[in-house]
Amino acid sequence: MKIETILTPVELPALAQRDLRATACVVFDVLRATSTFVTALHHGAQAIIPVSEIAEALEIQNSEFRIQNSESILLGGERNGVRISADGIDFDLGNSPREYKPEIVRGKTIVSTTTNGTRALRACANAQTVLAASFLNLTATAEFLRQKNFENILLVCAGTGENQADEDVLAAGALTELLTAREDARPTISDPTEIARRAWLEAKPDLSAAVCDSENARRLLAIPELRDDVAFCLQRDICFLVAKMDADGTIFRR
Ligand code: MLT
Repeated sequence: MKIETILTPVELPALAQRDLRATACVVFDVLRATSTFVTALHHGAQAIIPVSEIAEALEIQNSEFRIQNSESILLGGERNGVRISADGIDFDLGNSPREYKPEIVRGKTIVSTTTNGTRALRACANAQTVLAASFLNLTATAEFLRQKNFENILLVCAGTGENQADEDVLAAGALTELLTAREDARPTISDPTEIARRAWLEAKPDLSAAVCDSENARRLLAIPELRDDVAFCLQRDICFLVAKMDADGTIFRR
């Protein structure tokens, strides 16, 4: 097993040019897209359809898909951290995992567009396997990757805007720690993966102190109704599920 890591979203466009057919991509957008998707699936959402642009989300809403699933589709996501209003349409949900309560999402398909998370997931669309991961489902994700024994794993840190995000790098490091724990089957790891692993080992004793200073955490902490999202997203292993994106770009619980 070989583990590589993309530390910054600047590297995302190059992914589209890369042959990922023999690679399992694990996308982290800890604050908050992948944490939100994992929470939604944990609370009974049927599926998540991540799209890069607001227009794509609206198109799906108006499409045949919508007509066939009129009762079961919800629009979610954010721009600048807050719920989207576009073309006179208010999205049903923002990107706070705490909004995705069982009574709201059970049985629903959520079409979501976020600044970085959904863009990172779409950039991996041609990979052998694509997982949406977070601290919330880290151990389940590690177990899935170990069981499947993928030859190549690519950890994708979605970042904040065009910048690297501490929380994504730390989650990638934490996953690396889990995947390298067994002495008998040590994966080969790239230099960026080792950077993430070391950053995690340093931050691990007080994760919230390490993350609180990150760009996205500071932004969320400054918005009273979103500040609790930071602590929520740093919880470890409260969802024992794998969030896997199918070839058609829909994420299901596995
Ligand atoms: C993103 O996709 O960039 C994020 O999840 C942003 C956020 O929710 O604040």
